[in-house]
Amino acid sequence: MSVTKAVFPVGGLGTRFLPATKASPKEMLALVDKPLIQYVVEEAALAGITDAVFVTGRGKRAIEDHFDTIFELEHALDRKGNRKLLEEVRKITNLANFAYVRQGEPLGLGHAILCARNLVGDEPFAVLLGDDIVSGRVPCLRQLIDAYERLARSSGEVVGGVIAVQRVRGPEISSYGVIKAEPVAGSRRLFRVRGLVEKPAPDKAPSDLAIIGRYVLAPAIFESLAVTPRGRGGEVQLTDALRDLTVERNYPLYAVLFEGRRYDAGDKLGFLQATVEFALANAELGPPFRRYLRELLRRRRPARA
Ligand code: G1P
Repeated sequence: MSVTKAVFPVGGLGTRFLPATKASPKEMLALVDKPLIQYVVEEAALAGITDAVFVTGRGKRAIEDHFDTIFELEHALDRKGNRKLLEEVRKITNLANFAYVRQGEPLGLGHAILCARNLVGDEPFAVLLGDDIVSGRVPCLRQLIDAYERLARSSGEVVGGVIAVQRVRGPEISSYGVIKAEPVAGSRRLFRVRGLVEKPAPDKAPSDLAIIGRYVLAPAIFESLAVTPRGRGGEVQLTDALRDLTVERNYPLYAVLFEGRRYDAGDKLGFLQATVEFALANAELGPPFRRYLRELLRRRRPARA
């Protein structure tokens, strides 16, 4: 069965990016010229997603408006004959069919996904976290869906899920869900997951394979989420539900060491890094921005004696 629905949990408070996120959603922070959430929705659309479910909360209305038609704006652009911008603005509305559900209480990522249960129904679906921006030749989510479909075909079993991981060395590992896994024979990038821990202390991490915010999940995850007690930070953790799914319920779970580069755009430094790299890669802005950076570095460098 192909994966056509995706859940975007956007209810988070964005505390890592205060004060910028005090009254506006972190998902709407602009990376060069598009809000973060648009990059993530575009990645999903490129991967074949047709239905987007946002799990939203208080103060997040700007996200709904962004993916909706703004008649006055389109009318004004049309009157000015600005076809290029009009196309650009219309394209956003056509990325997917959008549905919204509110996460009444801030009980964590696992709880947010459980809120989407009725809208997802009984089929495999994707989850994409808006903090994680991934660039690369093949969309990260597409890599997961390809692996999920291949595994489901070849094993004939119900695959519990396929999640994206990257290698993280040092104490930074404690900012992630971390998997215990063994490589799948004949593949450099595929792992069979045997255990998962949410944000372990560095000396307790079972490996250097850290989960990043892209998942393909079987609907059985909802049964695990429904019984997952609050874990780290007093929140219902998706990582804990995944452990229940595979360790307790024996659904095979896999991880893909994805190809591409991931930016933690929910973090101030990660956001700046993404901004510089995306600006340099931008067709229009890249060349003048590169000249500006060169000039800036030249001026800052102390003159040689
Ligand atoms: C969430 C997940 C964590 C994962 C991370 C990736 O944590 O709970 O397992 O490694 O996203 O970005 P958060 O960063 O939302 O605290």
